[in-house]
Amino acid sequence: MEVTNKYVTIKRHVEGTPKESDFEIKTVTLCLSIDSGCGDIIVKNLMVSIDPYQINRMKSYSSSHETISYAKGIVPGEEIEAYGVARVLVSENPEFEKGDLVIGVITWGEYSKIPSGRMIRKLEPMGLPLSYHVGFLGFSGLTAYAGLFEICKPKKGDKVFVSAASGSVGNLVGQYAKLFGCYVVGCAGSNKKVKLLKEKLGFDEAFNYKEETDLKSTLKRYFPDGIDIYFDNVGAEMQEAAISNMNTHGRVAVCGVISEYTDSGKRAAPDMTSVIYKRIKIQGFLAGDYMHVYPDFLSKTNDYLSVGKLQVLEDISYGLESIPCAFMGLFRGDNIGKKLVQIAEE
Ligand SMILES: NC(=O)c1ccc[n+]([C@@H]2O[C@H](COP(=O)([O-])OP(=O)(O)OC[C@H]3O[C@@H](n4cnc5c(N)ncnc54)[C@H](OP(=O)(O)O)[C@@H]3O)[C@@H](O)[C@H]2O)c1
Repeated sequence: MEVTNKYVTIKRHVEGTPKESDFEIKTVTLCLSIDSGCGDIIVKNLMVSIDPYQINRMKSYSSSHETISYAKGIVPGEEIEAYGVARVLVSENPEFEKGDLVIGVITWGEYSKIPSGRMIRKLEPMGLPLSYHVGFLGFSGLTAYAGLFEICKPKKGDKVFVSAASGSVGNLVGQYAKLFGCYVVGCAGSNKKVKLLKEKLGFDEAFNYKEETDLKSTLKRYFPDGIDIYFDNVGAEMQEAAISNMNTHGRVAVCGVISEYTDSGKRAAPDMTSVIYKRIKIQGFLAGDYMHVYPDFLSKTNDYLSVGKLQVLEDISYGLESIPCAFMGLFRGDNIGKKLVQIAEE
C-alpha cells in the first residue's frame, strides 16, 4: 500500500531572514511496507515543534553543523527533521505497535519513515494535550529548567533578567524564577507581550525593547542594584547591556542568540575586563545535555501545573502548509509562547 506524503523543505540554503520563497512543499509517494525486522517504523505526524535553531540548519554553513547530530545542515529538497508527536502506522520495531503514540524526532511532513536508532519513544499523554508534550513538557521546558537551575543556580532574592521573555523558553524561565523566589524582569518585542508578562505570568517588571534607545540605561533603570542572573535568548546588544549591568559573581546562561541567527554582522562584544573583575560566569548550553534532570523537571513542572501555579503559553497553527509561515514568524516576533503546528487531528 502507498500514501501520498507532503513535506516542507527548503529550495536553497537560507541566508539572513527566511522568506516565503525559500520554502516549498514537496509531494512524494510513500510505500507503507518495510523490510521485515529492520527496526524501522512509519508514522502519521500529528504535531510538530517550530524552533529557531532550524534556521542555523538551513544555512550553507553554521558552526553548529559540526557539533551534534540534530544540528547538522539541511540539504535543500530533503525532509526536515523536527521534534513532534505521531501515531505509528507500520512497525518493524519490537518496541512499537501499530496505533502507538510516539514522541521524538519526526519531520515537517504528513508522514515520516523513522529508521531504527533515531530518538523516538512511546508517549503516554497522562490526560494532557499532545501540545504540552511537544512544547512545555518537552525540550522548551527542559531548556528553561536546566538553563536556570543547572547553569545559573539561583538563590532566593536573586535579580533575574530574561530576554525573549514571552517566547517558549523565556516565559518558563521567568515563571520558574518567580516560583523560586527571585525578582524577575523580562523584555519582549511588543506592549501586548509586556502586559501579558506582568499581568498573567507575574513578572515583577517587563519592557518593550523595541521602544528603548539605550539598553544599558534601560537595564540600569530596572535593576538599580544590578543583575545576578541573565538568561540570554537573543545575544548581540542585549547581551552586552545585560553583562554591563551584572553584579559580581553574576551568571549568564547563553541559551540562544536569535538576533544573530539572521544577521551575520551582529555579534555580542561584552566588556571582558568587567567579566574578569566581576568574576561573571558566561556559559552556553544545550538542553540535550541535561536529560538526567528530565525526571526532576517533569515532576516539579507537573506539580506546579496541577496546583495552577504555572501558566501554559502556546501558539498553535493548523495544517502542514502553515509551517513556513509559523517558522518565519519566530523571527518577526509573531508568536506568544511555544510555537507548534498541528498537522493532523488525533
Ligand atoms: N540551548 C538550547 O538547548 C536551546 C533550546 C531551545 C531554544 N533555544 C534558543 O532559545 C531562544 C528562544 O527559543 P524559543 O524556542 O523559546 O523561541 P521563542 O522565544 O518562542 O520565539 C522566538 C522569539 O524571539 C524573539 N525575537 C525574534 N527575533 C529577535 C531579535 N532580532 N531580537 C530580539 N528578539 C527576537 C521574538 O519575540 P519578541 O517579540 O520578544 O522579539 C520571538 O517571538 C532561541 O535563541 C533558541 O535558539 C536554545
